[in-house]
Amino acid sequence: MKDTLQKLNVLKLPWPADWQAIFGRDRALILEIGFGGGAFLRHLAHRFPEHNVVGIEISNRCLTRAEAMIAREELTNTRVVYAMAEAALHHLFTPTSLSQIHVNFPDPWFRTRHSHRRLMQRDTLDVIVNRLQPGGLFYLATDILEYAEMSHELLAETPGLDNVLAVPWAAELPERIVTKYEMKARRDGRSCYYFAYRRNQQPPPAMTAVQELPMPHLVFHSPITLDEVEASFEEKQFQPIAGTYIHFLRPWRSDRHILFETHIKEPTIEQRLALTLSLRHDGHYTLQLSTLGHPRPTEGVHLAVKLLGDWLLALHPGSETLVIKLQEDT
Ligand SMILES: C[S@@+](CC[C@H](N)C(=O)[O-])C[C@H]1O[C@@H](n2cnc3c(N)ncnc32)[C@H](O)[C@@H]1O
Repeated sequence: MKDTLQKLNVLKLPWPADWQAIFGRDRALILEIGFGGGAFLRHLAHRFPEHNVVGIEISNRCLTRAEAMIAREELTNTRVVYAMAEAALHHLFTPTSLSQIHVNFPDPWFRTRHSHRRLMQRDTLDVIVNRLQPGGLFYLATDILEYAEMSHELLAETPGLDNVLAVPWAAELPERIVTKYEMKARRDGRSCYYFAYRRNQQPPPAMTAVQELPMPHLVFHSPITLDEVEASFEEKQFQPIAGTYIHFLRPWRSDRHILFETHIKEPTIEQRLALTLSLRHDGHYTLQLSTLGHPRPTEGVHLAVKLLGDWLLALHPGSETLVIKLQEDT
Protein backbone atom coordinates (compact mmCIF):
# COMPACT_ATOMS: atom_id res chain seq x y z
CA MET A 1 0.00 0.00 0.00
CA LYS A 2 2.95 2.31 0.82
CA ASP A 3 3.96 2.61 -2.83
CA THR A 4 0.47 3.50 -4.00
CA LEU A 5 -0.34 6.10 -1.35
CA GLN A 6 -0.45 9.24 -3.42
CA LYS A 7 0.05 12.60 -1.67
CA LEU A 8 -3.21 14.51 -1.77
CA ASN A 9 -3.37 18.31 -1.85
CA VAL A 10 -6.42 20.59 -2.06
CA LEU A 11 -4.80 22.53 -4.92
CA LYS A 12 -4.16 19.41 -6.99
CA LEU A 13 -7.40 17.50 -6.41
CA PRO A 14 -10.47 18.16 -8.57
CA TRP A 15 -13.08 20.42 -6.94
CA PRO A 16 -15.04 18.66 -5.51
CA ALA A 17 -12.73 15.68 -4.98
CA ASP A 18 -13.86 12.33 -6.38
CA TRP A 19 -13.83 10.44 -3.07
CA GLN A 20 -15.32 7.33 -4.64
CA ALA A 21 -12.32 7.10 -6.99
CA ILE A 22 -9.84 7.93 -4.21
CA PHE A 23 -11.15 5.20 -1.87
CA GLY A 24 -12.29 2.81 -4.60
CA ARG A 25 -15.72 2.62 -2.96
CA ASP A 26 -18.71 4.87 -2.31
CA ARG A 27 -19.29 5.16 1.44
CA ALA A 28 -20.37 7.73 4.02
CA LEU A 29 -17.55 10.21 4.66
CA ILE A 30 -16.11 11.22 8.03
CA LEU A 31 -13.84 14.30 8.21
CA GLU A 32 -11.30 15.20 10.89
CA ILE A 33 -9.92 18.74 10.70
CA GLY A 34 -6.38 19.30 12.05
CA PHE A 35 -5.64 15.70 13.08
CA GLY A 36 -2.13 16.52 14.43
CA GLY A 37 -0.52 13.33 15.78
CA GLY A 38 -3.20 11.23 14.06
CA ALA A 39 -4.34 9.15 17.09
CA PHE A 40 -7.97 10.24 16.73
CA LEU A 41 -7.89 9.67 12.96
CA ARG A 42 -6.60 6.14 13.58
CA HIS A 43 -9.34 5.64 16.16
CA LEU A 44 -12.00 6.77 13.63
CA ALA A 45 -10.57 4.44 10.99
CA HIS A 46 -10.85 1.43 13.31
CA ARG A 47 -14.18 2.42 14.87
CA PHE A 48 -15.90 3.04 11.51
CA PRO A 49 -14.48 0.46 9.07
CA GLU A 50 -17.51 0.82 6.79
CA HIS A 51 -16.97 4.59 6.41
CA ASN A 52 -14.37 6.49 4.40
CA VAL A 53 -12.32 8.68 6.75
CA VAL A 54 -10.58 11.87 5.54
CA GLY A 55 -8.11 13.83 7.68
CA ILE A 56 -6.91 17.29 6.73
CA GLU A 57 -3.84 19.12 8.02
CA ILE A 58 -1.56 22.02 7.16
CA SER A 59 1.48 20.51 8.89
CA ASN A 60 3.60 18.46 6.49
CA ARG A 61 5.20 16.64 9.39
CA CYS A 62 1.78 15.48 10.62
CA LEU A 63 0.78 14.47 7.07
CA THR A 64 3.93 12.41 6.53
CA ARG A 65 3.49 10.62 9.85
CA ALA A 66 -0.20 9.92 9.20
CA GLU A 67 0.60 8.58 5.73
CA ALA A 68 3.17 6.23 7.26
CA MET A 69 0.61 5.08 9.85
CA ILE A 70 -2.04 4.49 7.14
CA ALA A 71 0.42 2.43 5.09
CA ARG A 72 1.75 0.50 8.12
CA GLU A 73 -1.72 -0.44 9.33
CA GLU A 74 -3.12 -0.83 5.81
CA LEU A 75 -6.03 1.46 6.60
CA THR A 76 -7.75 1.36 3.21
CA ASN A 77 -10.64 3.47 4.58
CA THR A 78 -8.44 6.46 5.54
CA ARG A 79 -6.73 9.22 3.52
CA VAL A 80 -5.10 12.49 4.50
CA VAL A 81 -5.01 15.74 2.52
CA TYR A 82 -2.91 18.87 2.75
CA ALA A 83 -5.56 21.59 3.09
CA MET A 84 -6.67 24.52 5.18
CA ALA A 85 -9.99 23.67 6.83
CA GLU A 86 -11.89 26.42 5.03
CA ALA A 87 -10.53 25.44 1.60
CA ALA A 88 -11.23 21.73 2.16
CA LEU A 89 -14.79 22.29 3.37
CA HIS A 90 -15.65 24.57 0.46
CA HIS A 91 -13.81 22.90 -2.39
CA LEU A 92 -13.40 19.19 -1.67
CA PHE A 93 -16.86 18.27 -0.38
CA THR A 94 -20.37 18.71 -1.77
CA PRO A 95 -23.48 19.71 0.24
CA THR A 96 -24.79 16.94 2.58
CA SER A 97 -21.79 14.70 1.78
CA LEU A 98 -20.35 14.32 5.31
CA SER A 99 -21.76 12.08 8.03
CA GLN A 100 -19.40 13.32 10.78
CA ILE A 101 -17.01 16.25 11.27
CA HIS A 102 -14.51 16.20 14.14
CA VAL A 103 -12.43 19.15 15.33
CA ASN A 104 -10.10 18.44 18.24
CA PHE A 105 -8.34 21.32 19.98
CA PRO A 106 -8.19 23.94 17.20
CA ASP A 107 -6.50 27.33 17.61
CA PRO A 108 -4.41 26.79 20.76
CA TRP A 109 -3.09 30.37 20.39
CA PHE A 110 -6.46 31.88 19.55
CA ARG A 111 -6.14 34.89 21.90
CA THR A 112 -3.19 36.19 19.90
CA ARG A 113 -4.66 35.26 16.49
CA HIS A 114 -6.70 37.58 14.33
CA SER A 115 -10.34 36.59 14.71
CA HIS A 116 -10.73 35.95 10.95
CA ARG A 117 -8.12 33.17 11.20
CA ARG A 118 -9.98 31.22 13.91
CA LEU A 119 -11.49 27.95 12.86
CA MET A 120 -14.67 28.46 14.87
CA GLN A 121 -16.35 31.40 13.20
CA ARG A 122 -19.63 32.07 11.41
CA ASP A 123 -18.42 31.33 7.87
CA THR A 124 -16.77 28.02 8.81
CA LEU A 125 -19.76 26.90 10.83
CA ASP A 126 -22.08 27.74 7.91
CA VAL A 127 -20.10 25.57 5.52
CA ILE A 128 -19.93 22.79 8.15
CA VAL A 129 -23.77 22.86 8.33
CA ASN A 130 -23.98 22.91 4.54
CA ARG A 131 -21.67 19.87 4.15
CA LEU A 132 -23.26 17.68 6.89
CA GLN A 133 -26.03 15.32 5.85
CA PRO A 134 -29.29 15.46 7.86
CA GLY A 135 -28.60 13.55 11.08
CA GLY A 136 -24.84 14.07 10.58
CA LEU A 137 -22.73 14.88 13.64
CA PHE A 138 -20.36 17.74 14.47
CA TYR A 139 -17.92 17.27 17.37
CA LEU A 140 -15.64 19.92 18.84
CA ALA A 141 -13.18 19.71 21.74
CA THR A 142 -11.20 22.56 23.31
CA ASP A 143 -9.21 23.16 26.49
CA ILE A 144 -9.76 26.94 26.47
CA LEU A 145 -12.79 28.13 28.43
CA GLU A 146 -13.10 31.38 26.42
CA TYR A 147 -13.00 29.35 23.20
CA ALA A 148 -15.72 27.05 24.59
CA GLU A 149 -17.87 30.06 25.52
CA MET A 150 -17.38 31.67 22.11
CA SER A 151 -18.16 28.36 20.34
CA HIS A 152 -21.27 27.87 22.47
CA GLU A 153 -22.56 31.32 21.43
CA LEU A 154 -21.89 30.60 17.75
CA LEU A 155 -23.49 27.14 17.91
CA ALA A 156 -26.54 28.49 19.76
CA GLU A 157 -27.06 30.88 16.81
CA THR A 158 -26.84 28.05 14.25
CA PRO A 159 -30.38 26.88 13.40
CA GLY A 160 -29.09 23.96 11.29
CA LEU A 161 -27.51 22.21 14.31
CA ASP A 162 -29.12 20.78 17.47
CA ASN A 163 -27.19 20.12 20.65
CA VAL A 164 -27.00 16.38 21.32
CA LEU A 165 -26.07 17.01 24.96
CA ALA A 166 -28.36 18.29 27.71
CA VAL A 167 -25.68 20.86 28.64
CA PRO A 168 -23.82 23.43 26.47
CA TRP A 169 -20.68 21.26 26.68
CA ALA A 170 -19.57 18.15 28.54
CA ALA A 171 -16.53 17.60 30.76
CA GLU A 172 -16.02 14.25 29.04
CA LEU A 173 -17.59 12.17 26.30
CA PRO A 174 -17.89 8.39 26.69
CA GLU A 175 -16.08 6.35 24.00
CA ARG A 176 -13.71 9.23 23.22
CA ILE A 177 -10.02 8.48 23.07
CA VAL A 178 -7.49 10.99 24.42
CA THR A 179 -5.50 12.85 21.75
CA LYS A 180 -1.87 13.88 22.13
CA TYR A 181 -2.72 17.52 22.68
CA GLU A 182 -5.48 16.58 25.13
CA MET A 183 -3.06 14.44 27.15
CA LYS A 184 -0.72 17.40 27.54
CA ALA A 185 -3.60 19.74 28.44
CA ARG A 186 -4.74 17.37 31.17
CA ARG A 187 -1.17 16.86 32.43
CA ASP A 188 -0.83 20.64 32.67
CA GLY A 189 -4.03 20.74 34.77
CA ARG A 190 -6.37 22.23 32.14
CA SER A 191 -10.00 21.09 31.86
CA CYS A 192 -11.40 20.05 28.48
CA TYR A 193 -14.77 20.99 26.98
CA TYR A 194 -16.58 18.72 24.51
CA PHE A 195 -19.40 19.67 22.14
CA ALA A 196 -21.67 17.32 20.15
CA TYR A 197 -24.25 18.66 17.66
CA ARG A 198 -26.55 16.97 15.15
CA ARG A 199 -27.57 18.37 11.76
CA ASN A 200 -31.35 18.81 11.61
CA GLN A 201 -33.74 19.35 8.64
CA GLN A 202 -33.45 23.18 8.58
CA PRO A 203 -32.41 24.48 5.14
CA PRO A 204 -28.62 24.99 4.93
CA PRO A 205 -27.10 28.48 4.69
CA ALA A 206 -26.44 29.60 1.11
CA MET A 207 -22.83 29.07 0.07
CA THR A 208 -20.72 30.92 -2.44
CA ALA A 209 -17.31 29.39 -2.94
CA VAL A 210 -14.60 30.68 -5.22
CA GLN A 211 -15.09 29.01 -8.63
CA GLU A 212 -12.54 27.62 -11.02
CA LEU A 213 -12.58 29.41 -14.41
CA PRO A 214 -10.86 28.86 -17.78
CA MET A 215 -7.18 29.82 -17.93
CA PRO A 216 -6.76 33.64 -18.19
CA HIS A 217 -4.69 34.93 -21.04
CA LEU A 218 -3.64 38.29 -22.49
CA VAL A 219 -1.72 39.01 -25.71
CA PHE A 220 -0.50 42.54 -26.39
CA HIS A 221 1.94 44.50 -28.40
CA SER A 222 4.28 46.99 -26.72
CA PRO A 223 7.50 48.73 -27.76
CA ILE A 224 8.78 48.25 -24.19
CA THR A 225 11.59 45.71 -23.55
CA LEU A 226 11.67 42.98 -20.88
CA ASP A 227 14.61 44.84 -19.27
CA GLU A 228 12.47 47.97 -18.97
CA VAL A 229 9.53 45.99 -17.52
CA GLU A 230 11.81 44.38 -14.96
CA ALA A 231 13.35 47.74 -14.00
CA SER A 232 9.91 49.41 -13.64
CA PHE A 233 8.44 46.74 -11.34
CA GLU A 234 7.70 47.64 -7.75
CA GLU A 235 6.01 45.40 -5.20
CA LYS A 236 2.28 46.23 -5.08
CA GLN A 237 -0.86 45.15 -3.28
CA PHE A 238 -4.52 45.41 -4.29
CA GLN A 239 -7.92 44.58 -2.89
CA PRO A 240 -9.94 44.67 -6.14
CA ILE A 241 -13.13 43.26 -4.55
CA ALA A 242 -14.18 42.59 -0.96
CA GLY A 243 -12.33 39.62 0.53
CA THR A 244 -9.80 39.28 -2.34
CA TYR A 245 -6.19 40.42 -1.79
CA ILE A 246 -3.57 40.38 -4.53
CA HIS A 247 0.09 40.94 -3.80
CA PHE A 248 2.65 41.14 -6.62
CA LEU A 249 5.87 40.32 -4.82
CA ARG A 250 8.82 40.21 -7.22
CA PRO A 251 9.85 39.54 -10.83
CA TRP A 252 12.05 36.55 -11.76
CA ARG A 253 13.80 37.13 -15.08
CA SER A 254 15.03 34.68 -17.72
CA ASP A 255 15.96 35.18 -21.35
CA ARG A 256 12.48 35.71 -22.91
CA HIS A 257 10.25 35.60 -19.80
CA ILE A 258 9.51 37.32 -16.51
CA LEU A 259 7.76 35.32 -13.77
CA PHE A 260 5.86 37.61 -11.42
CA GLU A 261 5.63 35.91 -8.03
CA THR A 262 2.11 36.60 -6.79
CA HIS A 263 0.13 35.86 -3.63
CA ILE A 264 -3.66 35.74 -3.97
CA LYS A 265 -5.96 35.39 -0.98
CA GLU A 266 -9.64 34.81 -1.70
CA PRO A 267 -12.43 34.04 0.76
CA THR A 268 -12.09 30.24 0.45
CA ILE A 269 -8.61 29.66 -1.00
CA GLU A 270 -5.11 31.12 -0.79
CA GLN A 271 -2.52 30.63 -3.56
CA ARG A 272 1.10 31.55 -4.15
CA LEU A 273 1.69 31.37 -7.88
CA ALA A 274 3.45 32.97 -10.84
CA LEU A 275 2.11 35.03 -13.73
CA THR A 276 4.37 34.73 -16.76
CA LEU A 277 5.12 37.50 -19.23
CA SER A 278 6.68 35.96 -22.37
CA LEU A 279 8.18 37.68 -25.38
CA ARG A 280 6.94 35.67 -28.36
CA HIS A 281 8.85 35.08 -31.56
CA ASP A 282 6.35 37.32 -33.45
CA GLY A 283 7.43 40.21 -31.14
CA HIS A 284 4.15 40.31 -29.16
CA TYR A 285 3.85 39.64 -25.44
CA THR A 286 1.71 36.99 -23.69
CA LEU A 287 0.70 37.28 -20.05
CA GLN A 288 -0.67 34.07 -18.54
CA LEU A 289 -0.77 31.89 -15.46
CA SER A 290 2.33 29.71 -15.04
CA THR A 291 1.47 26.05 -14.38
CA LEU A 292 4.25 25.92 -11.78
CA GLY A 293 2.85 24.49 -8.52
CA HIS A 294 -0.63 23.53 -9.85
CA PRO A 295 -2.40 26.91 -9.49
CA ARG A 296 -6.19 27.06 -9.90
CA PRO A 297 -7.51 29.76 -12.28
CA THR A 298 -9.97 31.40 -9.89
CA GLU A 299 -11.59 34.84 -10.17
CA GLY A 300 -8.71 36.23 -8.06
CA VAL A 301 -6.23 34.92 -10.66
CA HIS A 302 -8.23 36.58 -13.47
CA LEU A 303 -8.23 39.83 -11.50
CA ALA A 304 -4.46 39.53 -10.99
CA VAL A 305 -3.86 39.05 -14.74
CA LYS A 306 -6.10 42.06 -15.43
CA LEU A 307 -4.26 44.27 -12.90
CA LEU A 308 -0.80 43.22 -14.06
CA GLY A 309 -1.88 43.52 -17.71
CA ASP A 310 -3.19 47.07 -17.10
CA TRP A 311 0.11 48.00 -15.47
CA LEU A 312 2.14 46.53 -18.36
CA LEU A 313 0.01 48.30 -20.99
CA ALA A 314 0.32 51.61 -19.13
CA LEU A 315 4.14 51.42 -19.23
CA HIS A 316 4.21 52.61 -22.85
CA PRO A 317 1.68 54.75 -24.81
CA GLY A 318 2.30 52.63 -27.91
CA SER A 319 0.90 49.47 -26.25
CA GLU A 320 -2.09 47.71 -27.78
CA THR A 321 -4.19 44.77 -26.56
CA LEU A 322 -4.52 42.02 -29.20
CA VAL A 323 -6.27 39.12 -27.39
CA ILE A 324 -7.96 39.19 -24.04
CA LYS A 325 -9.30 36.03 -22.37
CA LEU A 326 -10.48 37.09 -18.96
CA GLN A 327 -13.68 36.58 -17.01
CA GLU A 328 -16.06 39.20 -18.42
CA ASP A 329 -16.64 41.30 -15.33
CA THR A 330 -12.99 41.54 -14.19
C1 LIG B 1 -3.47 22.02 18.83
S1 LIG B 1 -3.24 20.99 17.49
C2 LIG B 1 -4.32 19.64 17.87
C3 LIG B 1 -3.92 18.39 17.15
C4 LIG B 1 -4.83 17.17 17.38
N1 LIG B 1 -6.18 17.42 16.90
C5 LIG B 1 -4.84 16.76 18.85
O1 LIG B 1 -5.89 16.90 19.47
O2 LIG B 1 -3.79 16.29 19.33
C6 LIG B 1 -4.08 21.80 16.12
C7 LIG B 1 -3.78 21.16 14.77
O3 LIG B 1 -4.59 21.78 13.78
C8 LIG B 1 -3.81 22.05 12.62
N2 LIG B 1 -4.42 23.23 11.99
C9 LIG B 1 -4.38 24.51 12.44
N3 LIG B 1 -5.10 25.33 11.64
C10 LIG B 1 -5.62 24.53 10.65
C11 LIG B 1 -6.44 24.79 9.50
N4 LIG B 1 -6.88 26.01 9.21
N5 LIG B 1 -6.77 23.74 8.72
C12 LIG B 1 -6.32 22.48 8.99
N6 LIG B 1 -5.54 22.18 10.07
C13 LIG B 1 -5.19 23.19 10.88
C14 LIG B 1 -2.40 22.28 13.15
O4 LIG B 1 -1.41 22.01 12.17
C15 LIG B 1 -2.34 21.31 14.33
O5 LIG B 1 -1.83 20.05 13.95
